Amino acid sequence: MEKFFEELGKRVLGEWKAQNFSLPLFPEIARTALEERPPAQHVDLPRLIREFLLDDQQPRQTQSGFGQPELVVYEDTRLYIQVLFWLEGTTDIHQHEFSGAFHVLAGSSIHSMFTFEDARSISSHLRVGKLRMERTHLLETGSTVPIMSGREYVHSLFHLDTPSATVVVRTQTDPGTGPQFTYLPPHFAIDPIQDDALTMRRKQLLDVLEKTGDSAYPELVGAMIAELDFERGFFILQNSAMVLREMGEWDRIWKVFQKKHGALAEYVPATLNEIARRDAITALRAAVTEVEHRFFLALLLNIPDRVGILDMVAQRFPGEPMESILRWADELIEVSEEGIWLLDSEFPQLPEIDFDDRPQVFLASLRNLLGAGDAPEIGAGQVELLRQAFLRSSWRALMVA
Ligand SMILES: [Fe+2]
Repeated sequence: MEKFFEELGKRVLGEWKAQNFSLPLFPEIARTALEERPPAQHVDLPRLIREFLLDDQQPRQTQSGFGQPELVVYEDTRLYIQVLFWLEGTTDIHQHEFSGAFHVLAGSSIHSMFTFEDARSISSHLRVGKLRMERTHLLETGSTVPIMSGREYVHSLFHLDTPSATVVVRTQTDPGTGPQFTYLPPHFAIDPIQDDALTMRRKQLLDVLEKTGDSAYPELVGAMIAELDFERGFFILQNSAMVLREMGEWDRIWKVFQKKHGALAEYVPATLNEIARRDAITALRAAVTEVEHRFFLALLLNIPDRVGILDMVAQRFPGEPMESILRWADELIEVSEEGIWLLDSEFPQLPEIDFDDRPQVFLASLRNLLGAGDAPEIGAGQVELLRQAFLRSSWRALMVA
Protein backbone atom coordinates (compact mmCIF):
# COMPACT_ATOMS: atom_id res chain seq x y z
CA MET A 1 0.00 0.00 0.00
CA GLU A 2 1.33 3.44 -0.94
CA LYS A 3 2.38 5.15 2.31
CA PHE A 4 1.37 8.61 1.13
CA PHE A 5 -2.27 7.61 0.74
CA GLU A 6 -2.33 5.72 4.01
CA GLU A 7 -1.20 8.87 5.80
CA LEU A 8 -3.67 11.02 3.85
CA GLY A 9 -6.53 8.65 4.64
CA LYS A 10 -5.71 8.50 8.34
CA ARG A 11 -5.40 12.26 8.55
CA VAL A 12 -8.78 12.87 6.85
CA LEU A 13 -10.44 10.19 8.98
CA GLY A 14 -9.03 11.72 12.18
CA GLU A 15 -10.14 15.23 11.31
CA TRP A 16 -13.58 14.06 10.23
CA LYS A 17 -13.99 12.06 13.45
CA ALA A 18 -13.14 15.22 15.43
CA GLN A 19 -16.17 16.79 13.66
CA ASN A 20 -18.38 13.81 14.63
CA PHE A 21 -18.44 12.70 10.96
CA SER A 22 -20.48 15.71 9.91
CA LEU A 23 -21.39 15.26 6.24
CA PRO A 24 -21.50 18.98 5.31
CA LEU A 25 -17.96 19.46 6.70
CA PHE A 26 -16.40 16.53 4.83
CA PRO A 27 -15.70 18.17 1.42
CA GLU A 28 -13.75 20.97 3.09
CA ILE A 29 -11.75 18.54 5.27
CA ALA A 30 -10.86 16.49 2.17
CA ARG A 31 -10.02 19.57 0.11
CA THR A 32 -7.75 21.06 2.79
CA ALA A 33 -5.86 17.80 3.27
CA LEU A 34 -5.29 17.47 -0.50
CA GLU A 35 -4.17 21.08 -0.82
CA GLU A 36 -1.78 20.97 2.12
CA ARG A 37 0.03 17.89 0.84
CA PRO A 38 -0.81 17.77 -2.87
CA PRO A 39 -0.52 14.28 -4.38
CA ALA A 40 0.72 15.90 -7.62
CA GLN A 41 3.85 16.94 -5.71
CA HIS A 42 4.29 13.91 -3.46
CA VAL A 43 3.19 10.87 -5.45
CA ASP A 44 5.54 9.26 -7.95
CA LEU A 45 3.03 7.83 -10.43
CA PRO A 46 5.34 5.25 -12.10
CA ARG A 47 6.33 4.01 -8.63
CA LEU A 48 2.66 3.81 -7.56
CA ILE A 49 1.84 1.77 -10.68
CA ARG A 50 4.77 -0.59 -10.08
CA GLU A 51 3.92 -1.03 -6.42
CA PHE A 52 0.26 -1.78 -7.23
CA LEU A 53 1.28 -4.38 -9.80
CA LEU A 54 3.88 -6.15 -7.65
CA ASP A 55 2.73 -5.83 -4.02
CA ASP A 56 -0.27 -7.97 -2.99
CA GLN A 57 -0.88 -5.92 0.17
CA GLN A 58 -3.53 -3.56 -1.25
CA PRO A 59 -6.80 -2.16 0.08
CA ARG A 60 -9.87 -4.12 -1.01
CA GLN A 61 -10.63 -3.33 -4.68
CA THR A 62 -14.12 -2.74 -6.10
CA GLN A 63 -15.90 -3.98 -9.24
CA SER A 64 -16.60 -0.34 -10.20
CA GLY A 65 -16.68 0.49 -13.89
CA PHE A 66 -15.80 4.12 -13.06
CA GLY A 67 -12.33 5.23 -14.16
CA GLN A 68 -10.13 3.52 -16.72
CA PRO A 69 -9.42 1.94 -14.26
CA GLU A 70 -10.07 2.81 -10.63
CA LEU A 71 -7.45 1.83 -8.04
CA VAL A 72 -8.48 1.95 -4.39
CA VAL A 73 -5.41 3.21 -2.51
CA TYR A 74 -6.93 3.63 0.98
CA GLU A 75 -10.07 2.17 2.45
CA ASP A 76 -12.07 2.56 5.62
CA THR A 77 -15.73 1.78 6.38
CA ARG A 78 -16.58 5.49 6.18
CA LEU A 79 -14.32 6.79 3.41
CA TYR A 80 -11.91 5.71 0.75
CA ILE A 81 -9.33 7.15 -1.60
CA GLN A 82 -9.25 6.19 -5.26
CA VAL A 83 -6.82 6.96 -8.06
CA LEU A 84 -8.70 7.17 -11.35
CA PHE A 85 -6.99 6.88 -14.71
CA TRP A 86 -8.68 8.32 -17.80
CA LEU A 87 -7.89 7.37 -21.38
CA GLU A 88 -10.81 9.15 -23.05
CA GLY A 89 -12.25 12.60 -22.55
CA THR A 90 -15.64 11.61 -21.08
CA THR A 91 -18.36 14.24 -21.27
CA ASP A 92 -21.01 12.87 -18.94
CA ILE A 93 -22.66 15.60 -16.89
CA HIS A 94 -23.55 14.10 -13.52
CA GLN A 95 -24.28 14.47 -9.83
CA HIS A 96 -22.96 12.35 -6.94
CA GLU A 97 -24.24 10.08 -4.22
CA PHE A 98 -21.03 10.73 -2.29
CA SER A 99 -18.99 13.75 -1.25
CA GLY A 100 -15.35 14.70 -0.80
CA ALA A 101 -12.78 16.32 -3.07
CA PHE A 102 -10.79 15.45 -6.17
CA HIS A 103 -7.28 16.41 -7.19
CA VAL A 104 -5.66 16.40 -10.62
CA LEU A 105 -2.65 14.10 -10.24
CA ALA A 106 -1.61 14.09 -13.91
CA GLY A 107 -2.90 15.83 -17.05
CA SER A 108 -5.41 18.67 -17.28
CA SER A 109 -9.18 18.89 -17.62
CA ILE A 110 -12.04 21.15 -18.57
CA HIS A 111 -14.31 21.39 -15.53
CA SER A 112 -17.87 22.69 -15.96
CA MET A 113 -20.58 23.35 -13.37
CA PHE A 114 -24.31 23.31 -14.14
CA THR A 115 -27.72 24.04 -12.64
CA PHE A 116 -30.92 22.19 -13.55
CA GLU A 117 -33.71 24.74 -13.45
CA ASP A 118 -37.51 24.36 -13.38
CA ALA A 119 -36.92 20.67 -12.81
CA ARG A 120 -39.61 18.10 -12.12
CA SER A 121 -39.73 14.34 -11.91
CA ILE A 122 -41.52 12.32 -14.57
CA SER A 123 -40.66 9.07 -12.81
CA SER A 124 -38.13 8.23 -10.10
CA HIS A 125 -35.58 7.61 -12.88
CA LEU A 126 -36.29 10.55 -15.20
CA ARG A 127 -36.49 14.30 -14.64
CA VAL A 128 -37.07 17.18 -17.03
CA GLY A 129 -35.87 20.75 -16.67
CA LYS A 130 -33.44 23.19 -18.19
CA LEU A 131 -29.75 22.46 -17.79
CA ARG A 132 -27.66 25.59 -17.71
CA MET A 133 -23.90 25.84 -17.59
CA GLU A 134 -22.89 28.23 -14.82
CA ARG A 135 -19.14 28.29 -15.33
CA THR A 136 -16.28 26.41 -16.84
CA HIS A 137 -12.53 26.51 -16.27
CA LEU A 138 -9.30 24.69 -17.02
CA LEU A 139 -8.00 22.51 -14.22
CA GLU A 140 -4.24 22.06 -14.41
CA THR A 141 -2.18 19.38 -12.65
CA GLY A 142 -2.27 19.99 -8.89
CA SER A 143 -5.78 21.57 -8.78
CA THR A 144 -8.18 20.44 -6.05
CA VAL A 145 -11.98 20.76 -6.21
CA PRO A 146 -14.59 19.84 -3.54
CA ILE A 147 -17.48 17.48 -4.41
CA MET A 148 -20.92 17.80 -2.82
CA SER A 149 -23.57 15.08 -3.00
CA GLY A 150 -27.08 15.58 -4.37
CA ARG A 151 -28.87 17.66 -6.98
CA GLU A 152 -27.28 21.00 -6.13
CA TYR A 153 -23.86 19.97 -7.45
CA VAL A 154 -23.90 19.00 -11.14
CA HIS A 155 -20.65 18.95 -13.08
CA SER A 156 -18.63 17.43 -15.90
CA LEU A 157 -14.93 16.78 -16.31
CA PHE A 158 -13.35 16.44 -19.70
CA HIS A 159 -9.81 15.09 -19.53
CA LEU A 160 -7.61 16.69 -22.14
CA ASP A 161 -4.48 14.57 -21.83
CA THR A 162 -3.92 10.83 -22.16
CA PRO A 163 -3.63 9.39 -19.66
CA SER A 164 -5.04 11.75 -17.07
CA ALA A 165 -5.16 10.71 -13.43
CA THR A 166 -7.25 12.07 -10.56
CA VAL A 167 -7.22 11.33 -6.83
CA VAL A 168 -10.61 11.28 -5.11
CA VAL A 169 -11.02 11.39 -1.33
CA ARG A 170 -14.63 10.43 -0.81
CA THR A 171 -17.32 9.09 1.50
CA GLN A 172 -18.56 5.57 0.84
CA THR A 173 -22.06 6.87 0.12
CA ASP A 174 -24.36 9.69 1.31
CA PRO A 175 -27.77 8.09 1.92
CA GLY A 176 -30.73 9.92 0.42
CA THR A 177 -28.76 11.84 -2.22
CA GLY A 178 -29.25 9.38 -5.10
CA PRO A 179 -29.86 8.45 -7.78
CA GLN A 180 -26.62 9.70 -9.36
CA PHE A 181 -28.43 11.34 -12.26
CA THR A 182 -26.67 11.75 -15.59
CA TYR A 183 -27.81 14.84 -17.47
CA LEU A 184 -28.66 14.93 -21.16
CA PRO A 185 -28.57 18.59 -22.17
CA PRO A 186 -30.59 20.63 -22.49
CA HIS A 187 -33.60 18.98 -20.84
CA PHE A 188 -33.23 15.55 -19.21
CA ALA A 189 -31.76 13.86 -16.17
CA ILE A 190 -31.69 10.07 -16.24
CA ASP A 191 -30.72 7.46 -13.67
CA PRO A 192 -27.78 5.66 -15.31
CA ILE A 193 -28.06 2.51 -13.22
CA GLN A 194 -31.79 2.00 -13.29
CA ASP A 195 -32.56 -1.57 -13.95
CA ASP A 196 -35.14 -1.53 -16.75
CA ALA A 197 -34.03 -4.80 -18.31
CA LEU A 198 -37.15 -5.08 -20.48
CA THR A 199 -36.41 -1.77 -22.23
CA MET A 200 -32.76 -2.75 -22.69
CA ARG A 201 -33.77 -6.06 -24.31
CA ARG A 202 -36.36 -4.35 -26.51
CA LYS A 203 -33.74 -1.90 -27.77
CA GLN A 204 -31.40 -4.79 -28.50
CA LEU A 205 -34.15 -6.67 -30.32
CA LEU A 206 -34.93 -3.59 -32.42
CA ASP A 207 -31.22 -3.40 -33.27
CA VAL A 208 -31.45 -6.98 -34.57
CA LEU A 209 -34.36 -5.98 -36.83
CA GLU A 210 -32.42 -2.93 -38.02
CA LYS A 211 -29.24 -4.84 -38.78
CA THR A 212 -31.09 -7.56 -40.63
CA GLY A 213 -33.01 -4.99 -42.69
CA ASP A 214 -36.41 -6.14 -41.41
CA SER A 215 -39.08 -4.02 -43.10
CA ALA A 216 -41.34 -4.25 -40.02
CA TYR A 217 -38.95 -1.98 -38.04
CA PRO A 218 -40.68 1.40 -38.43
CA GLU A 219 -44.17 0.00 -38.00
CA LEU A 220 -43.15 -1.80 -34.79
CA VAL A 221 -41.42 1.27 -33.36
CA GLY A 222 -44.53 3.34 -34.16
CA ALA A 223 -46.79 0.83 -32.42
CA MET A 224 -44.50 0.80 -29.36
CA ILE A 225 -44.37 4.60 -29.16
CA ALA A 226 -48.17 4.74 -29.30
CA GLU A 227 -48.38 2.44 -26.26
CA LEU A 228 -45.39 3.19 -24.04
CA ASP A 229 -45.21 5.63 -21.12
CA PHE A 230 -43.03 8.73 -21.53
CA GLU A 231 -39.86 7.29 -19.97
CA ARG A 232 -39.77 4.07 -21.93
CA GLY A 233 -41.00 5.82 -25.07
CA PHE A 234 -38.17 8.35 -24.80
CA PHE A 235 -35.52 5.64 -24.56
CA ILE A 236 -36.95 3.78 -27.57
CA LEU A 237 -37.11 7.03 -29.53
CA GLN A 238 -33.51 7.85 -28.56
CA ASN A 239 -32.36 4.41 -29.66
CA SER A 240 -34.17 4.55 -33.00
CA ALA A 241 -33.91 8.24 -33.96
CA MET A 242 -31.01 7.97 -36.36
CA VAL A 243 -32.31 4.82 -38.08
CA LEU A 244 -35.77 6.34 -38.47
CA ARG A 245 -34.27 9.46 -40.03
CA GLU A 246 -32.30 7.40 -42.52
CA MET A 247 -35.48 5.47 -43.38
CA GLY A 248 -37.44 8.71 -43.86
CA GLU A 249 -39.83 7.58 -41.12
CA TRP A 250 -38.87 10.05 -38.40
CA ASP A 251 -41.59 12.65 -39.00
CA ARG A 252 -44.36 10.06 -38.88
CA ILE A 253 -43.12 8.38 -35.66
CA TRP A 254 -42.41 11.76 -34.05
CA LYS A 255 -46.04 12.78 -34.60
CA VAL A 256 -47.16 9.62 -32.79
CA PHE A 257 -44.98 10.52 -29.79
CA GLN A 258 -46.10 14.14 -29.87
CA LYS A 259 -49.78 13.20 -29.96
CA LYS A 260 -49.38 10.83 -27.02
CA HIS A 261 -47.34 13.12 -24.73
CA GLY A 262 -48.38 16.65 -25.72
CA ALA A 263 -46.35 19.48 -24.14
CA LEU A 264 -43.95 17.06 -22.46
CA ALA A 265 -42.81 15.83 -25.88
CA GLU A 266 -41.42 19.28 -26.68
CA TYR A 267 -38.41 18.65 -24.42
CA VAL A 268 -37.28 15.77 -26.63
CA PRO A 269 -36.10 17.14 -30.05
CA ALA A 270 -33.44 19.52 -28.70
CA THR A 271 -32.08 16.76 -26.46
CA LEU A 272 -31.91 14.19 -29.28
CA ASN A 273 -30.22 16.78 -31.54
CA GLU A 274 -27.64 17.50 -28.85
CA ILE A 275 -26.94 13.78 -28.35
CA ALA A 276 -26.38 13.44 -32.13
CA ARG A 277 -24.14 16.53 -32.20
CA ARG A 278 -21.97 15.26 -29.35
CA ASP A 279 -21.71 11.81 -30.89
CA ALA A 280 -20.54 13.37 -34.19
CA ILE A 281 -17.90 15.60 -32.55
CA THR A 282 -16.71 12.73 -30.33
CA ALA A 283 -16.28 10.54 -33.42
CA LEU A 284 -14.38 13.33 -35.20
CA ARG A 285 -12.16 13.83 -32.18
CA ALA A 286 -11.31 10.14 -32.10
CA ALA A 287 -10.02 10.46 -35.67
CA VAL A 288 -8.01 13.66 -35.13
CA THR A 289 -4.45 13.52 -33.79
CA GLU A 290 -3.26 17.15 -33.90
CA VAL A 291 -3.20 18.42 -30.27
CA GLU A 292 -4.63 21.88 -31.04
CA HIS A 293 -7.49 20.40 -33.07
CA ARG A 294 -8.28 17.92 -30.29
CA PHE A 295 -8.39 20.78 -27.81
CA PHE A 296 -10.74 22.78 -30.05
CA LEU A 297 -13.09 19.80 -30.47
CA ALA A 298 -13.06 19.32 -26.68
CA LEU A 299 -14.20 22.94 -26.32
CA LEU A 300 -17.03 22.42 -28.83
CA LEU A 301 -18.15 19.38 -26.83
CA ASN A 302 -18.08 21.11 -23.48
CA ILE A 303 -18.69 24.82 -23.82
CA PRO A 304 -21.96 26.07 -25.25
CA ASP A 305 -21.14 29.74 -25.86
CA ARG A 306 -18.79 31.99 -27.82
CA VAL A 307 -17.37 33.91 -24.87
CA GLY A 308 -16.50 30.73 -22.99
CA ILE A 309 -14.81 29.09 -25.98
CA LEU A 310 -12.78 32.21 -26.87
CA ASP A 311 -11.73 32.57 -23.25
CA MET A 312 -10.44 28.97 -23.10
CA VAL A 313 -8.52 29.35 -26.39
CA ALA A 314 -6.95 32.56 -25.05
CA GLN A 315 -5.84 30.73 -21.88
CA ARG A 316 -3.99 28.06 -23.85
CA PHE A 317 -2.70 29.83 -26.95
CA PRO A 318 -1.04 33.20 -27.53
CA GLY A 319 -2.54 35.75 -29.93
CA GLU A 320 -6.09 36.56 -30.94
CA PRO A 321 -8.24 33.48 -30.10
CA MET A 322 -10.55 33.94 -33.11
CA GLU A 323 -7.54 33.84 -35.42
CA SER A 324 -6.47 30.50 -33.91
CA ILE A 325 -9.99 29.13 -34.48
CA LEU A 326 -10.06 30.31 -38.10
CA ARG A 327 -6.63 28.77 -38.70
CA TRP A 328 -7.92 25.47 -37.29
CA ALA A 329 -10.96 25.72 -39.60
CA ASP A 330 -8.55 26.15 -42.53
CA GLU A 331 -6.65 23.06 -41.44
CA LEU A 332 -9.72 20.98 -40.67
CA ILE A 333 -11.72 21.49 -43.87
CA GLU A 334 -12.41 18.16 -45.59
CA VAL A 335 -12.92 18.16 -49.35
CA SER A 336 -13.89 14.91 -51.06
CA GLU A 337 -16.24 13.63 -53.73
CA GLU A 338 -18.87 13.03 -51.06
CA GLY A 339 -18.91 16.67 -50.07
CA ILE A 340 -17.15 19.48 -48.28
CA TRP A 341 -17.20 19.46 -44.51
CA LEU A 342 -16.11 21.85 -41.79
CA LEU A 343 -16.43 19.50 -38.81
CA ASP A 344 -20.16 18.67 -38.57
CA SER A 345 -21.23 21.34 -41.06
CA GLU A 346 -21.70 20.26 -44.68
CA PHE A 347 -21.47 22.63 -47.64
CA PRO A 348 -25.10 23.00 -48.86
CA GLN A 349 -26.50 22.30 -52.33
CA LEU A 350 -25.21 25.29 -54.30
CA PRO A 351 -24.60 23.99 -57.85
CA GLU A 352 -24.12 27.54 -59.16
CA ILE A 353 -20.86 27.88 -57.21
CA ASP A 354 -17.91 26.33 -59.02
CA PHE A 355 -16.63 23.21 -57.23
CA ASP A 356 -13.10 24.57 -56.94
CA ASP A 357 -14.35 27.79 -55.32
CA ARG A 358 -16.50 26.08 -52.72
CA PRO A 359 -13.88 25.54 -49.96
CA GLN A 360 -12.90 29.23 -50.04
CA VAL A 361 -16.55 30.35 -50.10
CA PHE A 362 -17.29 28.01 -47.19
CA LEU A 363 -14.38 29.37 -45.13
CA ALA A 364 -15.20 33.00 -46.01
CA SER A 365 -18.80 32.43 -44.97
CA LEU A 366 -17.64 30.99 -41.64
CA ARG A 367 -15.28 33.91 -41.09
CA ASN A 368 -18.17 36.31 -41.69
CA LEU A 369 -20.59 34.45 -39.40
CA LEU A 370 -17.98 34.42 -36.64
CA GLY A 371 -17.74 38.20 -36.94
CA ALA A 372 -14.24 38.27 -38.41
CA GLY A 373 -14.74 39.22 -42.08
CA ASP A 374 -17.07 40.26 -44.88
CA ALA A 375 -19.63 37.89 -46.42
CA PRO A 376 -18.42 36.16 -49.60
CA GLU A 377 -19.53 37.88 -52.82
CA ILE A 378 -22.39 35.57 -53.68
CA GLY A 379 -26.17 35.95 -53.78
CA ALA A 380 -28.19 36.68 -50.64
CA GLY A 381 -30.02 33.35 -50.96
CA GLN A 382 -26.72 31.50 -51.09
CA VAL A 383 -25.39 33.38 -48.06
CA GLU A 384 -28.53 32.33 -46.19
CA LEU A 385 -28.14 28.64 -47.14
CA LEU A 386 -24.57 28.69 -45.85
CA ARG A 387 -25.71 30.37 -42.64
CA GLN A 388 -28.31 27.63 -42.15
CA ALA A 389 -25.64 24.95 -42.66
CA PHE A 390 -23.51 26.46 -39.88
CA LEU A 391 -26.54 27.01 -37.62
CA ARG A 392 -27.27 23.27 -37.70
CA SER A 393 -23.71 22.47 -36.60
CA SER A 394 -21.37 22.90 -33.64
CA TRP A 395 -20.19 26.20 -35.15
CA ARG A 396 -23.50 27.69 -33.97
CA ALA A 397 -22.01 28.26 -30.49
CA LEU A 398 -19.39 30.60 -31.98
CA MET A 399 -21.62 32.55 -34.39
CA VAL A 400 -22.32 36.22 -33.80
CA ALA A 401 -26.01 36.66 -33.00
FE1 LIG B 1 -17.95 13.85 -10.70
